[in-house]
Amino acid sequence: MNSISEIDWKVKSKVVNTLLENRNKLILVPLDSGLEAEVTKVCLEESCFVLKVWNRSSKPNIEQQFKLLKTLYDEGLPVSQPYGWGLDKEANSVLLMSFNGAAVTKINESKLISLAKILTSIHDFPLNCLEDTLFNKHDFINYFYSEIEEHEDIHLLIKQLVDISHMKQDKLIHGDYNLGNILEIEGRYTIIDWTNGQLGDPRYDIAWSIVLISIYVSQRYGDVYRSAFLSRYTKEEIELFEAIACLRWVLLNRIAVLPKGKETIARVQNILKNNVHLNETLI
Ligand SMILES: Nc1ncnc2c1ncn2[C@@H]1O[C@H](COP(=O)(O)OP(=O)(O)O)[C@@H](O)[C@H]1O
Ligand SMILES: [Mg+2]
Repeated sequence: MNSISEIDWKVKSKVVNTLLENRNKLILVPLDSGLEAEVTKVCLEESCFVLKVWNRSSKPNIEQQFKLLKTLYDEGLPVSQPYGWGLDKEANSVLLMSFNGAAVTKINESKLISLAKILTSIHDFPLNCLEDTLFNKHDFINYFYSEIEEHEDIHLLIKQLVDISHMKQDKLIHGDYNLGNILEIEGRYTIIDWTNGQLGDPRYDIAWSIVLISIYVSQRYGDVYRSAFLSRYTKEEIELFEAIACLRWVLLNRIAVLPKGKETIARVQNILKNNVHLNETLI
């Protein structure tokens, strides 16, 4: 774990200065880290923060992520408050932000409806507030479907589906809205992990989150969560985007070891069987 004082801070708020002044009193606790970064809880007496260090292979632009978070936070979206960013001794990017609780685990219907509303508020975020802090538009297939060239069956189908979807990349999307990126503390939710935040099609963002809830929570809760979006989008367009999103899971499952429980594969097979655009031979 990096020592706070060994970071070359590029943007440093008062909080960073306070932590630096009290560096000998900090208590550091490693948190669940994913594939991309190491995450540590940093506490000074009663106040806790989170330091995320991108010390693996992925090298996202953290200056841009800091600005995005700051804008979203200042405009009232439920995201972590960013306090500073910089580079550690190995030139890995580092982001300091508020500590916002633990990832959502227990699900119920009203929670799902709240999470759907938050996702909608992200998609409704006015782009004029983002100015130059918002990024390029990525090529959808290249960005979300790595190594797809080696999987011709998925590649052919995804191209067809994207073609008929009339995808529009004109709204802020989170890019990986899943329960691991939604934290909860005292009934308040915070959306973290904005590395994939970009201009995109809200229907993809929604569909990816429906597919993950259907796979990792249950089909019933997937159905409840989906219903919260049907006042804005038709069943048909959500089904098409769920096919697109589910193909991403199937591709990732071919190229990496994904978390799986006893029922995971059966649930994916169920989606493949019931979605009009998919079939069970894909898995
Ligand atoms: N602001 C935060 N407050 C509390 N815990 C956090 C915060 N940011 C990250 N974490 C913890 O670290 C885990 C991984 O963080 P995340 O930003 O999602 O990284 P990854 O890119 O590895 O998915 C989260 O699931 C959460 O448990
Ligand atoms: Mg994450």
